[in-house]
Amino acid sequence: MSDNNNPLPLPSLPEWRNFVAATQQSAISFDRARIIDTPGLQLDISAQRHSPELTAAAQALLDARNFDAMRRHLLEGGIVNPSEKRAAWHSALRAAAPVGPINAERQRMNEFIRKADSERRWRNIVHIGIGGSDWGVRLAVGAFGYAGMWRQVRFVANIDGHAIEGGLAGLDLRDTLIVMASKSFTTAETLENGLRALERLRAAGVEDPYQHVVAITARPETARDWGIPASHVFRLWDWVGGRFSLWSSVSLTTALAINSDVVAGMLAGATAMDHHFANAPIEKNAPVQMALSGVVNRSVLGYGSLNIAPYDFRLAALVPYIQQLEMESLGKSVTLDGQPVGVPTGPAVWGMPGTDAQHTFFQWLHQGSDGAPVDFIVCQNADHQWRNHHESLLANCLAQREALLEGKSHSHAMMECLSAGMSHDEAEALALHRTHPGGRPSNLIVLPRLSPYALGSLLALYEHKIFVQGLIWGINPFDQWGVEYGKVLATGITRELNGDIPVDAAHDASTRHWIEQFRNDSAKR
Ligand code: F6P
Repeated sequence: MSDNNNPLPLPSLPEWRNFVAATQQSAISFDRARIIDTPGLQLDISAQRHSPELTAAAQALLDARNFDAMRRHLLEGGIVNPSEKRAAWHSALRAAAPVGPINAERQRMNEFIRKADSERRWRNIVHIGIGGSDWGVRLAVGAFGYAGMWRQVRFVANIDGHAIEGGLAGLDLRDTLIVMASKSFTTAETLENGLRALERLRAAGVEDPYQHVVAITARPETARDWGIPASHVFRLWDWVGGRFSLWSSVSLTTALAINSDVVAGMLAGATAMDHHFANAPIEKNAPVQMALSGVVNRSVLGYGSLNIAPYDFRLAALVPYIQQLEMESLGKSVTLDGQPVGVPTGPAVWGMPGTDAQHTFFQWLHQGSDGAPVDFIVCQNADHQWRNHHESLLANCLAQREALLEGKSHSHAMMECLSAGMSHDEAEALALHRTHPGGRPSNLIVLPRLSPYALGSLLALYEHKIFVQGLIWGINPFDQWGVEYGKVLATGITRELNGDIPVDAAHDASTRHWIEQFRNDSAKR
């Protein structure tokens, strides 16, 4: 067993070598027991590698990584992010009986919403935030507000001025609430966009523009110094990572846009998944099983990416949401104590809702030389009235998954061509193109319907899966130093571009060239 803070690189662990050997001997074969029931959803992992030996090797690997103790540590708010000396206690935010300060903040938020609703105020909401301060809210609003809301919601994340310009365009600013969500309250995009919104409010003759702004942050004093009234500042805590902040007051926009029941439902679904993760035996533990397949696919079978295919138009924002959750968490190459991990870690995550995805890139998944595991996500029941649409959606989801799994043999393709009336030579030539390799792994996640509870449970499933993958790889899934470095460089280059400071000679020649060109250009404007 390796020390939790100094996890041995995987290649040096005998348990890892056994896991690799067992994977190589395993196969994909359907077994009803490989469909896991959880509160909120069913997970079918039968299209992933499996064998009794692999199950035993997985258990030994988890034991070697001290899984039981580390899971407890996570869920009890221990320090699981040593490079920032922080807990990642997002599960506490959604507990049925949250501790004092969490509950107090929730009550304040509910009171703000109650007042706004009773006064029928804020017909427009402009939600300004980026990354974890954006995607979760976009996701929830897209999932439950797709058919219209009495409040209009716009999202502004990007520093590109077109984003804030479009975000504010055409709104009656006298009845517009600006929600600034930023854990750090230092993010350049959010602060600049917030300033533009304030300028527009002033220009529109709004007397006290700060009364139109709400902040959600772990730095309430910074937001207050910025001018936002204390009663409009809602807090989260350092132990809530940005990409997990959906469970905090960041959901204010969701509650205003749809209603508070959506937020409550999502919290309840996520809590139920927390309990499942904490208590279900390994073989029936959905996040753990998904994580094990993820490690098999990435580190043993060598798949470099993971495709997310939600067969639900309302879940378009699920792809970037999981992209951030997974890639910011697992895009690491050293262990907690800085040793090279020794095996490939977090895959690139990408995707698009089906059926659009089928007409965009599924060709690559079916017959491309690399392929990628796919997470198919679908709701058994729709919320619209057109049964044939939903049957077709379900059929497409199952068909794609089957084609990836079963493939199409050369002889099958030959038979198709011959029965279409082709000559033997023609059939032989074409059959080569119509052959699918198959054997491509996937998960199928079935939600009974797209309820807030099911969505909450789905998001927590991914969170815990990612935690387990991080644990197996021995990395810290809760920091993001790569992103921080990019932010520092961008701050310096911005100052160079606007002439505040000279161009640093330490830049590489190409970067220096472009800084000089852009700087000269803006000097002429
Ligand atoms: O992209 C890096 C990041 O730090 C994310 O982790 C975070 O969600 C985002 O920036 C926004 O940060 P903040 O909420 O502090 O504005």
